[in-house]
Amino acid sequence: MDKIVVEGGSRLVGDIPIGGAKNAALPLLASALLPNGPSTFKNVPLLQDVATMGKLLRQLGCEVDGKHTMVIHPPTAKKAKLEAPYELVKTMRASIVVLGPLVARYGRARVSQPGGCAIGTRPIDQHLKGLAAMGAKIHLDHGYVDVECKRLKGATIVLDMPTVTGCENLMMAAALAKGRTVIENAAREPEVEDLGLVLNKMGAKVTGAGTAIITIEGVDELQPIEHTIIPDRIEAGTFAIAAALTRGDVLLQGARAEHMDAIIAKLRAAGSTVTVEAGGVRVRGGGDILPIDITTQPHPGFPTDMQAQFMVLATQAKGQSMIREMIFENRYMHVPELSRMGADIHVDGRTAIIRGGTKLSGAAVMATDLRASASLVLAGLVASGKTEVLRVYHLDRGYETIEKKLRGVGAKVKRVKA
Ligand code: EPU
Repeated sequence: MDKIVVEGGSRLVGDIPIGGAKNAALPLLASALLPNGPSTFKNVPLLQDVATMGKLLRQLGCEVDGKHTMVIHPPTAKKAKLEAPYELVKTMRASIVVLGPLVARYGRARVSQPGGCAIGTRPIDQHLKGLAAMGAKIHLDHGYVDVECKRLKGATIVLDMPTVTGCENLMMAAALAKGRTVIENAAREPEVEDLGLVLNKMGAKVTGAGTAIITIEGVDELQPIEHTIIPDRIEAGTFAIAAALTRGDVLLQGARAEHMDAIIAKLRAAGSTVTVEAGGVRVRGGGDILPIDITTQPHPGFPTDMQAQFMVLATQAKGQSMIREMIFENRYMHVPELSRMGADIHVDGRTAIIRGGTKLSGAAVMATDLRASASLVLAGLVASGKTEVLRVYHLDRGYETIEKKLRGVGAKVKRVKA
C-alpha cells in the first residue's frame, strides 16, 4: 500500500490552490437524482469519496461523466435501481445522502444501514425520524433500511441535534414533497447552505439554508442545473496549520474566510497572522506558537474536522492547551500516534490536555480516520527526520494530492508507491 513520506524542517512559503469541498460535493452529486435531466457540477474535487459517490450513482442507474466537471444524468423511473448496497455504503457513510432524493423522486429506496465507524457510532435515527414525519413507511431488516412513500408530505421536523447529512437528506426529500417542510435545529454548515442554493436553482423554494430554521416549499418537478462547488474550508484549514506550524507564509488560494471564522479565530489565538486577500486567505506563522483552548461544536462553532490538526499545533505551543471533542465520541485516534512521535498529550474522556513545546521525532505512523491521518502529515512537517504515514487511502478520501500541494510550497513530502 502507498505511503506518504515527510522530511521535517522546511518552512512553507507560497500559494496552495484549495479544491472543491468534499462535504459539499457528496450531497450535491446526490441531488442530481432529483431533476428530470442531466446536472453539471464544476470544481468537483478528485477524491476517493467522490469516486465512491460516482460509483453509487451509476449503480442506481445514473450516467456519470467527467472528473473535475461532472455531469450526472439521472435514470427514468423505469430504469432506476433503488438500492444502495452494503459494499459501497460500508466504504463511505455519506452514501446515506441518496436516501432522501431517491424516495422523493422515485417513491422508494433501499439503503444499507451505515453502522458505526472509526470515530463513533454515528446513528441515522434523525434522517429516518424526519422521513417518517413526512409520511414515509420505514422498515429495517437484514442491515438495510427500506423507505417507501408515493409522495412525501411536508412536515415540521425538530432535529435532536443539528446533523449535517441528516439535514441535507431531509432538504432534498422536502424539495419534491407536497406542501411545506420546516426543519428546526437545522445544521448551519456552509455545505448545507450550498445545497439550499442548488435546490433553489433546480426550482425548489428553500429559505433559511445556513440558519437554524430551514423552510422548503415542495414543488412537483425540478430542473437540471449547473453549479460550481464551494472551496473546502477543512482542506484550507489543514494547510493553514501547515503554515502556522512551520512559521511559513502561505496563501490559501480561493479559500473563503467567511466559511472559516472559527478556524481563523483560533489560528490568531495561537499567534498566527491571518489576512483576507482578493485571492484567498493568507496565513503567516512566526514567533511563538501560543496555547489554545478548543471545544468542537456544530457550525458556526469550531469544526470537529479541524480538531486533530489543531492538536498538532498545540504540541508546538509555549504552554498547555486543552481540547474538548463534543461531536464524536472516539475522535482521538491520532493521540497515540502523535505520542509515539514525542507529543505529551493526556486524554480523559472527551478532554485532551496537550503540554506544548515538545520536540517531535519522525516515525512510522497510521490512523484509521481521514483527519487524524492529515494531522500525522502535519506532525511530520515539524518532526526531526523522516515520518512515514501509512494507510494513505484515508488521506485520499478527503485530500486531492496532498503531497503535491505541500511540495509546491517547499515541503519535503513524497508518495511512495507500494
Ligand atoms: N447523529 C445522531 N443521529 C443522527 C445523525 C447524527 O445521533 O441521525 C449524531 C452523530 O452521531 C454525531 C452528531 O450527531 O455525534 C453530528 O453528526 P452529523 O450527522 O452532523 O455528521 P455527518 O453528517 O455524518 C458530516 C461530515 C463529517 C463531519 C460531521 C460533523 C459529510 C459527508 N460528513 O457528517 O465529515 O465530521 O458532519 O461536522 O458532510 C470528514 O469530512 O472528515 C467528516 C467526518
